[in-house]
Amino acid sequence: MCGIIAYTGRDEAAPILLKGLKSLEYRGYDSAGIAVLNAEPHVSITKTPGRVEELERKVASENITGTSGIGHTRWATHGIVNEANAHPHTSCGSELVLVHNGIVENYLELRAELLDAGHKFTSETDSEIIVHLIESHMKDGASLEDATRRAAKRIRGAAAIVVATAGDPGRIVGLRLGNAGGIVVGIGKTGMVMASDLLAVLPHTRTVAYLDSGEMAIITPDTASFHDLDGGVIEKATIESDRSAEAAERGSFRHFMLKEIHEQAESTASAMRGRVDFENETVSLPDFPFSEEEIRRLDQVIIVGMGTSFHSAMMGAYMIEELVGIPARAENASEFRYRSPVLDENTLVVAVTQSGETADTLAAMEAARDGGAKQIAVCETEGSQATRMADGSLLIRAGQEIGVASTKTMTNTIVVLHLLALHLGRIRGSLGDETVADAVRELAALPGKVGDLLAAESTYEAIARRLATKRHLLYLGRGVMFPAALEGALKMKEIAYIHAEGYAAGEMKHGAIALISDLMPTIALAPAGPLREKMVSNVNEVKARGGEVIAVATEGDTMLPAVADEVIYLPPASVQMSAILSLVPMQLLAYYTALQLELDPDKPRNLAKTVTVE
Ligand code: G6P
Repeated sequence: MCGIIAYTGRDEAAPILLKGLKSLEYRGYDSAGIAVLNAEPHVSITKTPGRVEELERKVASENITGTSGIGHTRWATHGIVNEANAHPHTSCGSELVLVHNGIVENYLELRAELLDAGHKFTSETDSEIIVHLIESHMKDGASLEDATRRAAKRIRGAAAIVVATAGDPGRIVGLRLGNAGGIVVGIGKTGMVMASDLLAVLPHTRTVAYLDSGEMAIITPDTASFHDLDGGVIEKATIESDRSAEAAERGSFRHFMLKEIHEQAESTASAMRGRVDFENETVSLPDFPFSEEEIRRLDQVIIVGMGTSFHSAMMGAYMIEELVGIPARAENASEFRYRSPVLDENTLVVAVTQSGETADTLAAMEAARDGGAKQIAVCETEGSQATRMADGSLLIRAGQEIGVASTKTMTNTIVVLHLLALHLGRIRGSLGDETVADAVRELAALPGKVGDLLAAESTYEAIARRLATKRHLLYLGRGVMFPAALEGALKMKEIAYIHAEGYAAGEMKHGAIALISDLMPTIALAPAGPLREKMVSNVNEVKARGGEVIAVATEGDTMLPAVADEVIYLPPASVQMSAILSLVPMQLLAYYTALQLELDPDKPRNLAKTVTVE
């Protein structure tokens, strides 16, 4: 959700804030704004609905100076998208400026109280309440940090807040409450930074610290200190990040999404490094936190996630059930958190979240912890909340993903879940050495096969031209290809705004078949494997009702080309690898369909990369 940046140091703040906002823009792009403070004391606030580019133009036309400031890129929750609702928000006296990520759940009650006390509001946001609350505590004589702490105790809901005051321009306070997205503090040589995301900190420094819930950071040009909600000092260890800031560059690619789709040949190989022994043809996960004895005692695996990560979870559950032979199921984290799941110490909960900050997934992890389950996070972002909550993490090593619609992080997540299945299966004895060796040979060939699929890009582009003329699409799959169908449909909805349904092919006859006509093409995922013939029957059923079919088949298939209107070929592979491979054409179909419709695939409307609210 929203992106937050703050800087105080020796350099001019405005360019630093704008650069930071550009790298955070994937978190929200409804509006953007900055507040720059200088010693006069003076605060310059510039904000605009729309993109950071627009904000940059506005800032360029003003003469803004000051070496401290805060910035925000918004994903709207309370209040429409307009300039007044853009952050930063100010107090009545305009000396306080604040940016916020999260939701103030008791905002109506607090707003009424503040209105009664004479506060004047200029926006419809819940965020503005916080700055007025801080102002009222400062009027009572509290310092900025004390007033912020007192305000924090009044608001309900998760939040990340950054606040500064004209009265002390070089001092910025950041606070994290619950799981509304993190705050990373960067300790630089010429200044200190705070941001929602490591990426915005990296141009300044690799020395960082992450705030936990209930923690506050106070930065000045030369210092960063950490405190709890009672004002006590926290000794926080800093870490040296090994991440590169290059992920925020598009290079020669037209969109981040295309760049990230193309990175998949390399990133899938990264996920395997140090985990797959290609020479001895075996798999082991040195970063898996539980002992062999604990693994043998497991009696169920529950994989939770949201959005694309939920689809990865579904694929992972198929793989674990099949290869490990224990009950495995995927659960949508937003449902799991409110159920009464039966868990115990022999349950392994796997939280799938590339960002490690998705609010519902973190809440599901809390439920898993409360139920006494063992848990791991399968995650891209080291140091994120999910990795800190879990007993251990399997990092997916896809590299930072900027495109809002997930691509390479899904592929890598599934590779890692597949490795997890092989690791558990090997230790529990459900997989013999020869089966593991076969799987290793398949994995070794995966990056090359992804590369081959990417080389056939023009095929998907041609099919996308046809799909772009339709308003409805049906995606069918069976077994491990069912989540692939769901994901294909999700990608199309997310970036091309075409109504697309992912369906278990066997379920089609129970309803969706009524929709089949020449207006609704079907994408049938039918690679080689035990369920291919069943899929061929479904394709025939669609064809018999006048539907157009685009089949995804394995090279060498002779039946599907005879019945389908178009065929996308996957290289020969196991069913598990075919599920991973099928994602590449699904991503490119959606990408090129969006381009045909002149849409920006990197910034789909209404979506945010990291959803830090329920
Ligand atoms: C948002 C993004 C999706 C992502 C989902 C879960 O909806 O737009 O692409 O799959 O969040 O994100 P996570 O970071 O938990 O994997």
